[in-house]
Amino acid sequence: MRIQTSFSLKPTIADGTTGVMVVDEVKKELTLEARDAAIEEIAARLGVRAERGRRFAELTSLRVGGAIDWVISPVTEEQAATVVFALDQAGIAWRALGSGSNVLADDADHHYVVLSLKELKGEARFDGERVSVSAGYSLPRLCIDTGRRGLAGIEGLGGIPGTVGGALWMNAGAYGHEIGNVTETVRVAREGRVVEVPGHEVKWDYRHTSFREGELLLGATLLLSRDDPEKIGARMLEAKNKRLATQPHGGRSAGCFFKNPPGSSIGTGKMIDEMGMKGERRGGALVSPIHANFIVTEGEDAKAADALALAEEIRERFRREKGIELEYEVELWRAGQPDKSPEAEIEELESKTSQASAGESAGLQTPDSGLQTEEEEKR
Ligand code: EPU
Repeated sequence: MRIQTSFSLKPTIADGTTGVMVVDEVKKELTLEARDAAIEEIAARLGVRAERGRRFAELTSLRVGGAIDWVISPVTEEQAATVVFALDQAGIAWRALGSGSNVLADDADHHYVVLSLKELKGEARFDGERVSVSAGYSLPRLCIDTGRRGLAGIEGLGGIPGTVGGALWMNAGAYGHEIGNVTETVRVAREGRVVEVPGHEVKWDYRHTSFREGELLLGATLLLSRDDPEKIGARMLEAKNKRLATQPHGGRSAGCFFKNPPGSSIGTGKMIDEMGMKGERRGGALVSPIHANFIVTEGEDAKAADALALAEEIRERFRREKGIELEYEVELWRAGQPDKSPEAEIEELESKTSQASAGESAGLQTPDSGLQTEEEEKR
């Protein structure tokens, strides 16, 4: 039987407002059997571990989310680059996952490959004020390593329970430090090779970068500055204490769920708190009683749908009561084919254009200009 699958070359974040990850139009139809055989062949040829039967509930800090068709775990940057190139060439969709501490994945089955970067850690390599690390390296560990060597610039990030790759992807920040500010080069997989991209060519925005879906980040070289290890340690401790006093820790969360609204002097957490929503619950998900911008999950039966329902209720109240459209800070990983992919939008626009030109309609935007405008808006 031919099964319509939803894998594609490049999963894409198509909607900057909702943070919803959608995948490109189906580029190539494969039966699931043919796809599985291709994955097994790639894994055997490149000597990389490929597993079935894993679930997002085991791989994300919220401990919810459905089954994953395949999890592939490269151990070196070169191997990761060749794996994604082979997957791309075979038309098999993949998404990169670090420690899963900023992802809410749907409860349904996810028919794509998760490229787990947790094994891609190696050793941190120091050279003067520079440190080079791979994407799977733990961010808290890196902060400790660098602080001890008297290298300053990331001590505020010490309590973020993520990997370096995840931190680079979203320009993680806390307590006055953002990783983009100290990134000299990022190593990216291109055409099966490891390519260095200068940090200044990357757009580092608030919890967002110019990296695109389909681009795999393999590691980075950070350029830090010299300071007294004791002073760095003291600042790290100060950030840690603030975090422990104001944020839930050790629990099932994905950090702040929403971004702070641009230009607002009050943060999202404080506003949710003032709405009296701390402790509000939907099934196994609740608004943290400690910091209201954290949604935490509880119990064996907690579902991604619970967290999403609660998040959408918060967004709806912001819309209604404050006229604010809250943006997700966590990534929402959808299991199925999206309603509309960028390619589908192009097709739709093209078909509208041809219909319009057939009817001699004037003033219709070209597909390109229409999309460009939309892209601009998303940024
Ligand atoms: N506040 C409340 N109630 C709450 C939460 C906060 O009244 O439920 C008050 C606090 O007392 C404080 C103010 O709001 O006076 C700001 O709170 P906080 O210092 O926690 O800052 P935030 O804007 O809520 C941001 C980041 C955090 C980061 C902290 C510290 C975002 C969305 N959040 O939180 O990042 O750790 O600053 O730098 O930008 C994350 O990225 O996942 C994250 C948690």
